[in-house]
Amino acid sequence: MARFEFPEWTETLKKWINLLVLGGPVYLIVLIAYGVTPEAIRIGYQPDQPVPYSHALHAGELGMDCRYCHTTVERAAYAAVPPATTCMNCHSQVKKDSELLAPIRAAFAQNEPVRWTKVHDLPDYVYFNHQAHVNAAVGCETCHGRIDQMVKVYQAKALTMEWCINCHRNPTPYLREPENVTKMGYDDPSSSPHRTEGEGERVQKKNGVKPNVNCSTCHR
Ligand code: HEC
Ligand code: HEC
Ligand code: HEC
Ligand code: HEC
Ligand code: HEC
Repeated sequence: MARFEFPEWTETLKKWINLLVLGGPVYLIVLIAYGVTPEAIRIGYQPDQPVPYSHALHAGELGMDCRYCHTTVERAAYAAVPPATTCMNCHSQVKKDSELLAPIRAAFAQNEPVRWTKVHDLPDYVYFNHQAHVNAAVGCETCHGRIDQMVKVYQAKALTMEWCINCHRNPTPYLREPENVTKMGYDDPSSSPHRTEGEGERVQKKNGVKPNVNCSTCHR
């Protein structure tokens, strides 16, 4: 029996099939990275908020410390977003009739939470903990960028697994003396105060900082 010959055009078809088979896994990875967990990696994500609260004004110009409002960063996994009462400490006097602050006054009067929209949002299967980082001490700036210059908060870093692990393998350049943890612009040598020579090494040694890279550290 004569050997069956595939016509010429099927060679081209085979090349395409090979490409699809080889390209499949790559496509899947891309799908997982960008399709399944879009929230975590959206650099620049900047949702509207019910009140145009400005960090550039309050944390920048007025120089308020982050912990005045985000009270739990040193002792809990979750960084608390302030209730209306915190705002009313000042806004029962300052700009007390401002239209912009009406939702805050309403929440305060009804003793209800303000409905802020979450900016940073890791997938549920990832465990993150502020307390561990803030006490270690990694600055807010390292993970959230120049919040003190943001009129409206946006996500500065892609919160990928690679990003977490890169620092866990070598945290030294990111560590600060604990009193500098909320300072902004601290990594810029032209600003004052700024990171001192060997600060990371000193802190790491003194506090025995050694982040884990076991899967169960972040997936539990
Ligand atoms: C006067 C209170 C106040 C101060 C001070 C303050 N914040 Fe905030 N912060 C808020 C409020 C209210 C929100 C929620 C609304 C928004 O996202 O703008 C928020 C949101 C955030 C978010 C986004 C949270 C999310 O949903 O992912 C980050 C990050 C943040 N603040 C970091 C900081 C840092 C860093 C500092 C210090 C440099 C700081 N904040 C100082 C009140 C404050
Ligand atoms: C330590 C005092 C203080 C606290 C606490 C504070 N603010 Fe303010 N806020 C100010 C000052 C001062 C101004 C600027 C007033 C001016 O422009 O004259 C201001 C201005 C504002 C404005 C602009 C109002 C307008 O009509 O121009 C908004 C909106 C605002 N704050 C929201 C908030 C929210 C939301 C919170 C709570 C998360 C908060 N503030 C907490 C002091 C404070
Ligand atoms: C090592 C990186 C890192 C550092 C340092 C860090 N954050 Fe965060 N922050 C994150 C991540 C990641 C999320 C999102 C957590 C989630 O979705 O579970 C987040 C979320 C937040 C939120 C929203 C509430 C929450 O917990 O999900 C606020 C507010 C916040 N951070 C403020 C701060 C402040 C203020 C500091 C400094 C005192 C700080 N962060 C330091 C990485 C960091
Ligand atoms: C810039 C550096 C840096 C980044 C980025 C970072 N980490 Fe960490 N992480 C640390 C340091 C430092 C510690 C503290 C280690 C120690 O105390 O020995 C730590 C500790 C932890 C712990 C241990 C908490 C505990 O209870 O033991 C968890 C969980 C964790 N990180 C999760 C994450 C996740 C998830 C991300 C990414 C979303 C992340 N980290 C990004 C530096 C970082
Ligand atoms: C320091 C924290 C950290 C450690 C350690 C870690 N992961 Fe992750 N992992 C993350 C974060 C954050 C994400 C979410 C990334 C995103 O949304 O893009 C993630 C996502 C994943 C995903 C979902 C697919 C993907 O890529 O988005 C898998 C699977 C995974 N991790 C497996 C592992 C395994 C296996 C290990 C141990 C070898 C491990 N992780 C160790 C932080 C960590």
